Amino acid sequence: MDFNNLVQKYGSPLYIYNFNHFEEQFKKLKEVFRGKKSLIAFAVKSNSNLSVIKKFGELGSGADCVSIGEVKRALKSGIKSYNIIFSGVGKSDIELEEAINLGILFINIESEAEMKRIEKIAENLKVVARISVRVNPNIDPQTHPYISTGLHENKFGVDIEMAKRIYIYAKNSPHLNPVGIHFHIGSQLTKLAPITEASEKIANLVRHLKVLKIDIKFFDIGGGLGVDYENETLIEPYDYAQAIFSTLKGLDVTIVLEPGRFLTANGGYFVSSVLYEKNNEGKRFVIVDGAMNDLLRPTLYNAYHKIDFITESENSETSKADVVGPICESGDFFGKNREVPTDIQHGDLVVVNSAGAYGFVMASNYNTRGRVSEIAIENGKDRIIRERESFEKVIELEEKFL
Ligand code: LLP
Repeated sequence: MDFNNLVQKYGSPLYIYNFNHFEEQFKKLKEVFRGKKSLIAFAVKSNSNLSVIKKFGELGSGADCVSIGEVKRALKSGIKSYNIIFSGVGKSDIELEEAINLGILFINIESEAEMKRIEKIAENLKVVARISVRVNPNIDPQTHPYISTGLHENKFGVDIEMAKRIYIYAKNSPHLNPVGIHFHIGSQLTKLAPITEASEKIANLVRHLKVLKIDIKFFDIGGGLGVDYENETLIEPYDYAQAIFSTLKGLDVTIVLEPGRFLTANGGYFVSSVLYEKNNEGKRFVIVDGAMNDLLRPTLYNAYHKIDFITESENSETSKADVVGPICESGDFFGKNREVPTDIQHGDLVVVNSAGAYGFVMASNYNTRGRVSEIAIENGKDRIIRERESFEKVIELEEKFL
């Protein structure tokens, strides 16, 4: 990828997405689930640029959304309402009403209280709402605590006994149709065993429900497949599919997947330019024009992202340095103690890898920094898919109150 050329054309900092990578990842996953009915519902939260969603839609993807805003983004990008799922632990009445009216595939409910609200709303609208219950299987996914969701100590889903009560109630309600079951135990999962164990538990619950004449049609296994940030050992998609299949013997269900990171992370690059270099009593810092407001993962999770340096000089000598942004926070860094070329110059490029998931979507205007542009590369051609935010745009909603 010609980062120099792209920065010259579109400025710095910049997000760049390789749409061909997105497509390869999508096809890889679709292929291994081919033996069974399946729907891949791209987790829009990982990268919600309209052109990115559209790309997945064209490949046959549905969308997993966690706000009505994401649902509307998905629809705008061409995803059909019957391929949209709405998840999340705290949906508001307005969001639920809109989602029901739009006739999406199902709403993933996360509590008994939410089910009652949905019932009330559906009753007022004189319709039947399709629901799925997010079950918390109480399994340790062995990932970062901030992105682990499948233990009872996490706020997500309901336990198995509560799920049974919810299904029985829903079956008897004229305004609820329980069509699905859902679990998602965490993100950046690199071990298969917890997923298999969770799937087994949930599949057994589906069998139990069948005896009660509750027919689950959609078996939603969530997202969470880990990707390579730091040469991790990863779950092979084939093994993942086989593990899920092995738990579903005798069940006629459509498997729903909600991958985000697996599809987008390694297709994305966050590119910034070197501003200065400084040395504080032997500690070397390289200061770039991108910052934590643009890419928060290192700051928030201490996440590791590989960083490449594109320099003018041919000299290959390096020394350790922290790569930091201009924001007034010590936490504003992309990498600590990285090997950085010793003669890096103002204007050289710093490319943070694996930035396609949870990158731009978590950006803010902190320090009154406009959010950067996003660029798509497809079949060797580049195009802009989001403009850089101007100062005027950033203050737009406040200015009229002066
Ligand atoms: N489905 C549900 C219900 C989820 O909660 C999530 C992610 C996904 C699907 C997609 O997971 P993925 O396939 O992308 O792992 N900001 C954090 C990640 C938060 C993930 C939240 N839920 C990060 O940057 O690592």
